[in-house]
Amino acid sequence: MNTQRTPFVGSNWKMNTNAQEGFALIDAIGGLMQDGGVDVAVFPPFPYLMGIGERIKGGILLGAQDIWHNGNGAFTGEVSAEMLNDCGVNTVLTGHSERRHVIGESDELVNLKTKRVLESGLTAVLCIGELLEEREAGETDAVNERQIRAGLAGISEEQLGKVVLAYEPVWAIGTGKTATPEDAQNAHAAIRALICGMYSPAAGGAMRIIYGGSMKPSNAGELMAMTDVDGGLIGGASLKADDFYGIIEAARGSLVG
Ligand code: 13P
Repeated sequence: MNTQRTPFVGSNWKMNTNAQEGFALIDAIGGLMQDGGVDVAVFPPFPYLMGIGERIKGGILLGAQDIWHNGNGAFTGEVSAEMLNDCGVNTVLTGHSERRHVIGESDELVNLKTKRVLESGLTAVLCIGELLEEREAGETDAVNERQIRAGLAGISEEQLGKVVLAYEPVWAIGTGKTATPEDAQNAHAAIRALICGMYSPAAGGAMRIIYGGSMKPSNAGELMAMTDVDGGLIGGASLKADDFYGIIEAARGSLVG
């Protein structure tokens, strides 16, 4: 972690919890929170956004797992930026691997959604990462570059200030297999160099690049100790308040250590 950048730690609940469990989780996280140093966001399922938003405390940001790229209209089943704003949402995930590889979202759709998030004054957490076969073929950096160039197409340097990049190698998500700190650092450094080239050294230096994929309290510290790892996006381990808070503490610890 570079202390010039505020760490970002996100809790992606995916399609988990019921209302009661979600409320208990946000209450427990809120109860543990201490001020400062780390940006913390939770991404509950859509139906619970308002309820969670009413209970959220401790400076935690409310996030959404997805968005539709058009304004309100005839898009059955979708959720607009207007609705997310209305629910108090501050941050939106785009390009999550499950949306790319399970639901079938293209780079172009991810770009439209990311632009919509930014045009609506929200923060985008743009997720990228390679499949196992792409990693084994030595294509990690090329896949990340393609997803970043496509995902950020048409996005200005000023807008980039409201983008967080989440490197989530698909083979590490929900599998218990984590990238080694060195592998994560190599990928993150390549991503930062790409942003420096696409925009400017200042933009690349300011960009928060967070890691996702089986992050837990026991490995968060060593991952976030890497210069270019600026936080985490956590699925499974973030469904337990103590584990999620342990990761937040690891982020805070990496600032002083
Ligand atoms: P896991 O932490 O369960 O591997 O999920 C990572 C992820 O996809 C976060 O968005």
